[in-house]
Amino acid sequence: MPLTLPARRLSVALAALAASVLPPPANGQPLPVDVRAALADAVDFYRGVRAEQFFLALEPNERYEVLVGDAVFGFGDDAYLFAIGDEAFEAEFARSGGVGAGPGWGPPPLPARNQRLHDGELGGLDGSSCRTCHFVGGPDGSGAPSQVALLRGDGRRLDTATVRDAPHVMGLGYIEVAARRIERRLQERARIALSQAADLGLPIPVQLAVDGIEFGEVVAEPDGGLDTAGLYGISPDLIVRPFGHKGRHATLVALNDEALQIHHGIQTESRRLTRADDPATWLGDGGEFDPDDDGVEREATAAQAVLLASYLSMLGVPRIAPPTDPEMALTWARGRALFEEVGCAGCHRPSLRLPDREVTHTARGPEPFSHSLDLDEAGQDPIPRRLAFVPDDDGFVDAAVPLFAFTDLRRHDMGPGLAEPWPEVLPDGGGEVPGSVWLTRSLWGLADTAPYLHDGRAPTVHDAIEWHGGAAAESRAAYRALPEAEQGALRVFLLSLTRTPVLLVE
Ligand code: HEC
Ligand code: HEC
Repeated sequence: MPLTLPARRLSVALAALAASVLPPPANGQPLPVDVRAALADAVDFYRGVRAEQFFLALEPNERYEVLVGDAVFGFGDDAYLFAIGDEAFEAEFARSGGVGAGPGWGPPPLPARNQRLHDGELGGLDGSSCRTCHFVGGPDGSGAPSQVALLRGDGRRLDTATVRDAPHVMGLGYIEVAARRIERRLQERARIALSQAADLGLPIPVQLAVDGIEFGEVVAEPDGGLDTAGLYGISPDLIVRPFGHKGRHATLVALNDEALQIHHGIQTESRRLTRADDPATWLGDGGEFDPDDDGVEREATAAQAVLLASYLSMLGVPRIAPPTDPEMALTWARGRALFEEVGCAGCHRPSLRLPDREVTHTARGPEPFSHSLDLDEAGQDPIPRRLAFVPDDDGFVDAAVPLFAFTDLRRHDMGPGLAEPWPEVLPDGGGEVPGSVWLTRSLWGLADTAPYLHDGRAPTVHDAIEWHGGAAAESRAAYRALPEAEQGALRVFLLSLTRTPVLLVE
């Protein structure tokens, strides 16, 4: 374990710092009073990072100590875990840690061979750190157009690959909490209908909706079967999968497990021991302990994906920052209203309800590994706060906190213009998602995440709206029908969805 423990990134420290040293905007100008102090801290941090680089140059093995995962759990508090996770997200992985698949340039420790174009579910080697693709707009950000991932190809021909732009990764722990809540409610309704159907000996149809988000209909059969043909926007197993453009993963752990594999060729033990028979996963045929055949056995522990998930969960959420100029603020307010009027809010639901802020990350396998976090305590600023007591659709006023993510966590058919030529087969029994169907992308942080849409084809928010078709065609038509100034107002609103600025010295 390195003795010095500089998280390589100051973002979060600075976000906290910003909260303490930077006062609320004065005269509409968000200028910190104590820029000097903030800058001095940023420079100190930079020096720490440099010192760490030199330290690692002398002691290269130390780098992997922090990435092993379970060694760090139980060692310190959540702040320590955050610092380690931060380091893992930024760290350049290397061959001795299991990077790459196949023989590469030669036996380890020679570097592995880069491969932008993925070879099926085994992936490629298209990033040297998580940061490689998640840096636009700030730390833990989105991907650059030059960095789109070329997923699930045949390893040789570009036109066999699925092109994907990386989203930012802020606020995802809260998204996971919100998803679990919706899922619990849907499953509860289905369970009740099933027991009614069994009691009455009749099929019982139920409309599934949570907080006004409609998921279509299921019919509970008296024999215990559930007819899911009428479902909308969710997989037949009623599991909400909020991660990935297609709604691919239910949990951050599953996503990180896959990211380690497909971008870095690092296979966690949980993946090795649980995924061998999943049709959406191919681990390689290199043998029991080194399926990807790169000469490194047991590349990462089950805890590695849990560590990354815990770190990501603790990140703060993006924010809504309306313009401070009075006239522009009025335009913004008009844009906010238009967002509802032209039907954007039907899919990009302004807020989801957070019942609590507790999340447990578990890696599966013969030796499952779990870590629970209370984000009220462990979450980094800005964390979602309760604004007011608002009744839900059943009239209950509960302690739920709004999460301004601008998504409904459902999938929609977006029409042929946005369609890929093939469906995506999801892991964990999620079924197949047709080529034209996409998860409603959250819009929080939008101002900092261009380019837009699943493959980054839209350089501006206007272009992104223009590409909406299928279930969103009506909304796009309503946008097109707006006078130019009103369209502009809507765009002003969209670009107020941004991140808290951080001060960095790099
Ligand atoms: C080569 C670029 C690349 C690298 C390297 C990379 N990612 Fe990603 N990441 C992506 C892309 C592309 C997506 C969207 C994938 C999709 O939906 O098909 C994504 C999605 C994600 C998401 C889901 C975000 C959301 O809102 O749905 C998370 C979380 C994430 N990555 C974490 C990581 C972690 C952790 C690492 C390092 C182990 C990593 N990524 C490395 C490109 C990358
Ligand atoms: C039927 C549901 C639906 C409606 C209505 C809808 N959207 Fe979307 N929106 C989506 C989906 C799904 C995506 C992701 C599509 C993709 O990645 O290819 C998306 C993506 C976006 C993006 C790109 C976000 C990013 O980070 O890449 C923007 C911007 C956007 N929508 C704005 C709007 C606006 C503004 C409206 C109203 C005029 C609107 N949407 C109406 C479903 C909808």
